[in-house]
Amino acid sequence: MPVNLRGRHFLKLLDFSPSEIQFLLTLSKKLKEDKLTGIRHKLLEGKNVALIFEKASTRTRCAFVVACNDEGAFPEYLGKGDIQFGKKETVKDTARVLGRYFDGIEFRGFSQDVVEELAQYAGVPVWNGLTDMYHPTQILADFLTIMEEFGHLKDIVFAYTGDGRNNMARSLLIGGMKMGMDVRIVAPKSLLPDEDLIGKAREIAAETGGRFTLTDNVAEGVKGAQVIYTDVWVSMGEEAQWNERLALLKPYQVNSEMMAMTGRKDTIFLHCLPAFHNADTDMSKDCGALEVTEEVFEGKASRVFDQAENRMHTIKAVMVATIGA
Ligand code: CP
Ligand code: NVA
Repeated sequence: MPVNLRGRHFLKLLDFSPSEIQFLLTLSKKLKEDKLTGIRHKLLEGKNVALIFEKASTRTRCAFVVACNDEGAFPEYLGKGDIQFGKKETVKDTARVLGRYFDGIEFRGFSQDVVEELAQYAGVPVWNGLTDMYHPTQILADFLTIMEEFGHLKDIVFAYTGDGRNNMARSLLIGGMKMGMDVRIVAPKSLLPDEDLIGKAREIAAETGGRFTLTDNVAEGVKGAQVIYTDVWVSMGEEAQWNERLALLKPYQVNSEMMAMTGRKDTIFLHCLPAFHNADTDMSKDCGALEVTEEVFEGKASRVFDQAENRMHTIKAVMVATIGA
């Protein structure tokens, strides 16, 4: 059966089959090649797209806007405090109103329940641009970048190190199992994924041949890894835990020693960004590099800006597949 995602929401990878995820990656690759070779489509011609952001964003916001512009759609940014949502108006009412105006709605915020409720009542496709639980559009960009490097996803040895219970680790674990990868979550015991998620990962793995390891031992976790991935140690909304996290996660920093521990020469480094890799930002000026050293971030194994570019091509694919002509 050919894959058809027309009218579907994109809320979490758990809702998608491996062939549907592969379809989105193949479409992303095609849209990327077409853009780079000057072939322009207008696959979202005349569509109106709402972009709701409760949290800050550079890549996700800009990826949606540029993808809309490329394909002839009209994006409308609705930032924190811009609309009645969450203050005077319920999620359900907002969903029903926006669904009458817009052809698709992106939501970035705290609660996965909110994005699921928007989807329940909007009557148009809703896309998750990050919640505390999942960041599914990011995973498509990550997987496209891995495919560009290694040509496939199945059996790729993938080590995620750092906060093993945040939205990125959770999404990568589920996405990795869907695509039959060998995923290691390398984190302190107190920051490993919860039992519910582990159960889901196990069920998917049994069907796809995916494998996963949860370990607090860095050497064991990164051995043989083709991809080392990390994310910030303190996610948006968790700033109160700054000191505690920094102390806990220090041994999980991606540095040259960790890259060497893979025992491979072709290992690549990925990060969803933004990253604390030097002391050049307001937030990092007192702490310097945290989850990744400057050397690795700027080094030859780093693919972080290809990955960031791929946010745009993959988000475009999600919109084209769900509301496109
Ligand atoms: N990776 C990512 O989601 O980046 P932004 O927070 O800048 O959107
Ligand atoms: N875990 C990070 C991801 C940012 C793209 C956060 O939620 O802040």
